[in-house]
Amino acid sequence: MTNRLATTFTGLEFVNPFILASAPPTESKRKIMKAFEAGWGGVVTKTIGLHPVENVAGPRTIFQRSSDQTPYVSRMKRTDTVSHSSWNWELISDQPLDMWLPDLRDIKAAYPDRMLIASIMAGAGSEEEMDNWRKLASAVVDAGCDAIELNMSCPHMDRKDMGANIANDEDIIRSILAAVTSAVSVPIWVKLTPSTSKLVDAAGAAYEAGAAAISLCNTFPSLPLMDPETMKFEVEVDGLVTSGGLGGLAILHQALQRVSDISKAYPDHAISGIGGIRGFREAFNFVVHGAGNMQVCTAAMEEKGSGGVGVELIKELTRDLNDYLERKDYASIEEFRGVARERIVEHSDVRRKSGTYNGGYSIAS
Ligand SMILES: Cc1cc2nc3c(=O)[nH]c(=O)nc-3n(C[C@H](O)[C@H](O)[C@H](O)COP(=O)(O)O)c2cc1C
Repeated sequence: MTNRLATTFTGLEFVNPFILASAPPTESKRKIMKAFEAGWGGVVTKTIGLHPVENVAGPRTIFQRSSDQTPYVSRMKRTDTVSHSSWNWELISDQPLDMWLPDLRDIKAAYPDRMLIASIMAGAGSEEEMDNWRKLASAVVDAGCDAIELNMSCPHMDRKDMGANIANDEDIIRSILAAVTSAVSVPIWVKLTPSTSKLVDAAGAAYEAGAAAISLCNTFPSLPLMDPETMKFEVEVDGLVTSGGLGGLAILHQALQRVSDISKAYPDHAISGIGGIRGFREAFNFVVHGAGNMQVCTAAMEEKGSGGVGVELIKELTRDLNDYLERKDYASIEEFRGVARERIVEHSDVRRKSGTYNGGYSIAS
């Protein structure tokens, strides 16, 4: 019997299109092994770097919820709440590269049919930093990784030449890709920040410079909420907070918009869709906008009793997608991937109540 869930993405064979995103669910060998045992088709490791990492002296992530009875968003425990979002200001992995390498080897040896993608990050603006990208890339590929994801999108780096701080600068994107592609020949995915108006140009520059895929979205830059009674932020250290990243259901629609923008501009290029996936319906929406696989973080972290790797979630995702493919008699997600692309149009191309069109002119609302 053929596996309808199987997909080929950037030349790699995935047993199913669901991947754990770079984040706490993929921060250690133990968790990644557990994730593969549960059935995830691939993982992107927590981002690995070469500079020292020390996180803030407090919680790194909070989960925000809303409810019928108390319909505001808060991390506060209440009855009958549903998930709204995660908010985090966690830095990249604090496990040094030397400790990651034997772990990556063991993981790949134990699960040769699952895709192991290493997320890496170095700085920009100097030959030394380009060497760091090359060093990281060569090391993780030598350890058996199938692909690399370049993290150019973390919204709260403590260095100005890293993550979203480089704000989709096309020259920097090109220089990093030149460095990495000169060092390794596996597929390179590039995770860009969704929070600039230059996203589509940045994606174009990345594809042109050799990126096999764009991964999108990282969390959106955002602030935690302040409690009106205590005058405290829901997460803070010594009364202080910085911009962090919003993930989970709250970013689904914005993530779809960004994926659609890139997919319409570059319909023949690969996109790994991320942002707010909790089940089949959200995953489906990424596929119709053109994504060839889906990455998940917040929903896996929130699952109780699974050690934060989404043991039940991956069972549900694969079961529900498989049911759908069988019911519709689709051989794989490729049969409906991108079908929404042509239906996302300019506002002026949508019929007015009078039956006319605005013919290219948009009337200000
Ligand atoms: C606590 C936390 C840590 C994260 N760390 C990383 C990271 O190291 N590298 C990275 O590329 N993305 C990181 N992310 C972003 C996720 O990979 C993902 O892009 C984002 O959470 C959106 O997906 P979601 O809505 O399923 O959570 C992190 C997210 C969270 C919540």
